[in-house]
Amino acid sequence: MRRITIPELSLVALVGVTGSGKSTFARGHFASTHVLSSDTFRAMVADDENDQSATEDAFAALHFVAGRRLRAGRLTVVDATHVQREDRAKLVALAREYDVLPTAVVFDVPLAELRDRNRNHRDLADHVIRRQHEALRRSIRHLAKEGFRKVHVLSTTDTEVVVEYEKAY
Ligand code: CTP
Ligand code: MG
Repeated sequence: MRRITIPELSLVALVGVTGSGKSTFARGHFASTHVLSSDTFRAMVADDENDQSATEDAFAALHFVAGRRLRAGRLTVVDATHVQREDRAKLVALAREYDVLPTAVVFDVPLAELRDRNRNHRDLADHVIRRQHEALRRSIRHLAKEGFRKVHVLSTTDTEVVVEYEKAY
C-alpha cells in the first residue's frame, strides 16, 4: 500500500496524460466538491466537455472558483492533464496568491498502457497520447523547481493508495 501525504489546505494538481487515471483517482480519494475538473468546466461554459475551443474560458472559470475556495480555506483538487509547464504555473501562482501549498500528484503510466486505455476512453489520435506522454516524462523532474512543495509520483504498481492529511506548517 502506498501512503501519500497532502497538506490539509493545499491546491492539488493531478498531473497525467489522458487516460492515466486522474478522474478515477479523484473519485476514489476526494469528495466530489473538492475536485474541479476541466471537463466539467468545459461543459459548464460550452455545453460540451470535449469542446477544446472552450478551454480558455473553462480554465478562467475553473481558476476563479479555485481562488474562491482557497480564500475560504478549502482543499482544492484540479483534475486536468497539467502536462504543460504553463498550465501548472497558473496553479502554482494561484496557490501562492492564497498562501497555500501547491501539491502535485503525478500519474506515471507507460505509453503502451496509455495507448491501450485510450482505445476505450477518448480514442484520441496516437500522436496526441505520444506527445502528452513525452511532455509528462520531461516535466516530472522539474515539478519541485516549479514550486510544487510536495510531489507524489504514482506508477501503475501503486494499485492501493491512501491519502493522508497533515496540518499546514
Ligand atoms: N483506468 C484503468 N486503470 C487505472 C485507472 C484508470 O484501467 N488505474 C481506466 C479507467 O477505467 C478509464 C481509463 O483508464 O477507462 C481512463 O481513466 P480516467 O481516470 O478517466 O483517466 P484521466 O486521467 O481522467 O483521463 P482524461 O485526462 O482523458 O480525463
Ligand atoms: Mg479525466
